[in-house]
Amino acid sequence: MSQSATDAARRGGELKERIRAADHAYYVLDQPVLSDAEYDRLMRELAALEAAHPELADPDSPTQRVSGAPAARFERVAHREPMLSLGNVQTDAELDELDARVHRLLGLPESVEVAYVCEPKLDGLSAELVYEDGAFVSGSTRGDGAYGEDVTRNLRTVGGLQANRGVPQRLAGRPPRRIEVRGEVLLQKRHFEAMNQLILRQGGVPFANPRNAAAGSLRQLDWRITATRPLSFIAYEALVPHGEPWGTHWEKLRALAALGFDTNPENALCHGIAEVKRYRDRMERRRFELPYDTDGVVVKVDDLDWRRRLGAASKFPRWAAAFKYPPQEEATRVRAIWASVGRTGILTPVVEVDPVQLSGATVSRATLHNEDEMRRKDIRQGDWVLIRRAGEVIPEVVKPLPERRTGAETFFEFPRHCPICGAAVVREEGEKVYRCTGAACPAQLQGRLRHFAQRRAMDVDGLGDKLCAQLVETGLVKDFADLYAITHERWEGLERMAEKSAQNMVDALERSKDTTLRRLLFGLGIPQVGEATAATLARHFGTVATFLAASEEELLAVRDIGPESAREIRAWTSEPQNVRVVERLLAAGVAPAPEEVDARGALAGKTVVLTGGLSRLSRDEAKAEIERRGGKVSGSVSRKTHLVVAGEEAGSKLEKARALGVRVIGEEEFLALLEE
Ligand code: IVH
Repeated sequence: MSQSATDAARRGGELKERIRAADHAYYVLDQPVLSDAEYDRLMRELAALEAAHPELADPDSPTQRVSGAPAARFERVAHREPMLSLGNVQTDAELDELDARVHRLLGLPESVEVAYVCEPKLDGLSAELVYEDGAFVSGSTRGDGAYGEDVTRNLRTVGGLQANRGVPQRLAGRPPRRIEVRGEVLLQKRHFEAMNQLILRQGGVPFANPRNAAAGSLRQLDWRITATRPLSFIAYEALVPHGEPWGTHWEKLRALAALGFDTNPENALCHGIAEVKRYRDRMERRRFELPYDTDGVVVKVDDLDWRRRLGAASKFPRWAAAFKYPPQEEATRVRAIWASVGRTGILTPVVEVDPVQLSGATVSRATLHNEDEMRRKDIRQGDWVLIRRAGEVIPEVVKPLPERRTGAETFFEFPRHCPICGAAVVREEGEKVYRCTGAACPAQLQGRLRHFAQRRAMDVDGLGDKLCAQLVETGLVKDFADLYAITHERWEGLERMAEKSAQNMVDALERSKDTTLRRLLFGLGIPQVGEATAATLARHFGTVATFLAASEEELLAVRDIGPESAREIRAWTSEPQNVRVVERLLAAGVAPAPEEVDARGALAGKTVVLTGGLSRLSRDEAKAEIERRGGKVSGSVSRKTHLVVAGEEAGSKLEKARALGVRVIGEEEFLALLEE
C-alpha cells in the first residue's frame, strides 16, 4: 500500500470512530459532543476520502447508513417502509442541479416547471404513528431507519402546536384502513426555555437545545414523565399500503390536517425552482421568529406519481432534499467576563466577545448560566470560543477552543462584592449561584421593577428596561410604591420623554391599580412565588392583609405550599420594609380584587382537567368558573384528578382518564354543574 493510502485508511478509521461516538452521544444519550457544523465537516471529509480511495468502501461506514441505532431499552419496531433521511443541498447551484436531475430522470423538457412543496426543516426527532381503522395502534422513533423504538405510550401524551391538537387517539373523517403518519416531535422554544429554567432552579444540568430536550422527553421509559413535557407533533408525511388515495403531496398534507393532525402552516406549494429559492430566503430571514427551531428547508416533488418514478438511492430519496442553513455557530475571542446582577441578586457570568456576525445580527455578548457552567466548560478570558445562537437573542457559549490557547488566558474569579452596590456576595451551601446581599442594590431594584411592571404581573404598559434603569439611576424610585408617586412633570423631565409619553406613563400606572391579588403577589417578587403559587395564595387568603398576617404554619397548610416555600414567604412578610411597601401601594390606590372562591362551591378542593374544545365558553372562562367554585385546573390527568371535562376532539387526556378510571363529563354536564 502506498504511503498516502495508509494515511487515508488511518484517517478514515479515525473519522468513522469519531462519527460513531458522536452518533451514540447524540441519538442514544441525547447529549451531543459535536456541533452540527463539526459533524457535517467530519461526514464530508469521510465521504471525500472514500470517494478518492474506493478501496476504503465499507457498507458499515457512517456515510452508508442512517444514523441513530435504536436503544436497547425500548422494544424494536420494524418500519414497514424504511424511514430515510434527506440529502443536503447547500447552494443555489446545488438546488439547480436537483431540479435538473428531476427533469432528466422524468424525461421532462426544461420548459416544464416542476411543482415542489417546501416545508421548514423542523429540528426535533422524527416519529411514525400507525393507525388501523382510525385508531392509534403503535408509534415509534426513526431509529436506524429500518427499526425504531416503540414509544407508543409516550406518543399518546404528545400535543400539537395548538393546545387541542397533537397525536390523535382516533382519526377524524374517513381514514384509510391502515395509514402510517410521519412527522416531527419537537419542543417549542418557549417551552424549552421554561423547562431549562426549572432544571437550573433545581440545580440540574440544562438541555443543550430544544432538539435534545424533545428527544430526552420522548424517549423516557416512564410515559408519565413524557406526559409532563409539552411536546408537539407536526405531521409531514403519510403512507398508505397498496395505493395512496392522493395525487400530490399538497393534497396529502391537507388530508393529514383533516384527519386531525397539525401540519405546518408555513408549508408552501412552489412552482419551479426559482420560487423554491424565494421560499428558502424568506424562511431563513424569518427563522428566529418561528416558535420552534428549524435548521433548513425541505424541498419535495409535489406529484406523487413522479415521486414513485424517481424512487430512492440507498440512503436518500431522489424526490426530496434538505437545504440546510449555514451553521449558526461562530468562533470568536473572549474579551472579558464579568458578573451581571439580576432581580433576585443572582450574579450571572456575562461573556463579552469580539463582535461577530451570527445569523444576520452582530453579536458581542454571550451567556453562561452560572459559575458551575463556566467552570465545567472551562471558559477563560482571552479564550477562543464557539458561540451559538439557538433562537434566543443572546447567544450561548458552546465551548472553548483550547488548541488556540496561548497561555495568556486568565480565569475569571467571581467577585466577592457586588460590582454594582459593593455589598457582600455569598454562595450559600447547596446553592449553584452567587447572590448579592445588598438590600438596596440598584441592579436588583431595576430587575425587580421590570418584574413588577411586566404584563403577567401589574401590567404597566411602557415601563421597559431602559426606563426602569433611568428611574433607578435618577433615584426617583427606591421601591415599587415610589412608582405611583411620580408626577407628570417628573416623567417629562426624564431623558427621551416627551409630553405625550409622560402622560402615557401616568395613565398606564393609573390603569395598573385596578388589578387582582394574584398579579400583585406575583409582581412583588416574593421568593418562591411564581405565577401559579401567587394564584394559589390569592385564592386561599383572599386579601393582602390576611396574606401578610399568615404564620408559617398557616402558609404550610395551603395546598401546594411546601416547607421551604412557607419559610421563605414568611421571612419576606416578616420584613417590616416589605410590609411598608405593600401598605404604601394600597394607600396609592392599588386595589387588588380578591380571586372569588367559594369554599363550599360545587368543585371545592377538586382537581379538574379540561380537554378538547368547548363550544360555549373559552378555556380561560371555563378555568375561571372552576376556580370560582373552589376547584383547581390542572394540565394533565393523574390519579389525583377528580374530574375530566371532555369537549370536542378530546385527545390523549381523555384516554388517560379512562385508563385511570377518572370521572369524565361532557360539555352539557359541565354546564349543568356550573348552574348548581
Ligand atoms: S420528510 C424521506 N419533512 O429531517 C423523507 N423531514 O433528514 C424524509 N425533518 O428524519 C422526511 N422536517 O427528522 C421531512 N418537513 C419535513 C421535515 C423533515 C424535519 C427531519 C426528519 C428526518 C430528517 C431527514
